[in-house]
Amino acid sequence: MKKIKKLLVIGAGSIGKRQIDNFSKYFTIDIAEIRNDRISETVKNYNINKSYKDYKKALTNEIYDAVAITVPPHLHLSIAKYAVKKNCALFIEKPLGMNSKGWSDIYKICKKKKLLNYVAYCHRFIPYVEDFKKMVRKKLIGNIYCAHLKWSSYLPDWHKNENYKDFYMSKKSQGGGALLDDSHGIDLIQYILGDVKKVNALVTNISELQMTSDDCFFGILNLKNNIVVQLSFDLFSRTPRIYLEITGQKGTLIWDRVNHSISFFDRKKTKWNKKEYSLKSLMSMYPRQARYFYECLIKKKQCFNNIKEALRTQQVIDAAFKSSENKKIIKIS
Ligand SMILES: NC(=O)c1ccc[n+]([C@@H]2O[C@H](COP(=O)([O-])OP(=O)(O)OC[C@H]3O[C@@H](n4cnc5c(N)ncnc54)[C@H](O)[C@@H]3O)[C@@H](O)[C@H]2O)c1
Repeated sequence: MKKIKKLLVIGAGSIGKRQIDNFSKYFTIDIAEIRNDRISETVKNYNINKSYKDYKKALTNEIYDAVAITVPPHLHLSIAKYAVKKNCALFIEKPLGMNSKGWSDIYKICKKKKLLNYVAYCHRFIPYVEDFKKMVRKKLIGNIYCAHLKWSSYLPDWHKNENYKDFYMSKKSQGGGALLDDSHGIDLIQYILGDVKKVNALVTNISELQMTSDDCFFGILNLKNNIVVQLSFDLFSRTPRIYLEITGQKGTLIWDRVNHSISFFDRKKTKWNKKEYSLKSLMSMYPRQARYFYECLIKKKQCFNNIKEALRTQQVIDAAFKSSENKKIIKIS
């Protein structure tokens, strides 16, 4: 494929390298990364056109069709501001940022300048999320009463070659923590079940992990359609568990991201049915997402996971922090 578009990937860390791998099929790629070791490693292992230490220098020297913002969350907003000034389309890693502040303005600028903008809530591209959503929408379990979402992992296990205390995830000031990071779950709730109306939350630290960001988040969401959702995210569970269980009038549906399956309990037949998927199916979310972003760019069409949609997730995150701090139920406007 002839590569006609240029992409600047800002941040060549864990997800940055993954995105480089996925985007290299479609784009000529430059990188901006502050760490020399990460630049050398990336240039050695991937097809990189030019590398910079300062993203502003890259954006001043070159004209890019798009930037991929793959740095920690505290930097997303300032980089997005700079990139839209240079007329670049935006691929922003989730979460959108530290909070909602400033993002409506970026969205307005993108709209005015007709710049594609996308926030990488990539779980929507997992084939067994698509199937699960269809089952829910087709009312396989009838009217829905409630849902339970668990998102648990053990932070020190994430990157074997890095001390978790040095990783941005353990730092509140850089946007680490369970709530911001596992907000994939909040995105999925609104994507599959509907908009959130009220949030009651506890965001705190209860484990032995040495981190300034939250190691857990517990929440109850009331959706506009009256479904009640219980959420539990943590970074201290040695046994990873990521699942969404939905209970309805006609049965129960479970989406399991760790065991790659969808289970359906039919209340009438009192029987379980299980559909198995694979790790390959899970990991296909990244190349499918890269292709979607590229196609939207080429076809000049807006994408679904844009800043406006991600702001709905970010507002729930903001409300959860506020609810925990003020010990109050927060209404989403
Ligand atoms: N969608 C997903 O599945 C997924 C998975 C992992 C991470 N993420 C998101 O991606 C972002 C980065 O996470 P990560 O795990 O890759 O972190 P990381 O620490 O592994 O990588 C971040 C990189 O950014 C670099 N950096 C910091 N400041 C910079 C600057 N001013 N200019 C250029 N580079 C700079 C760091 O040196 C580091 O190499 C976060 O927002 C995270 O939530 C998303």
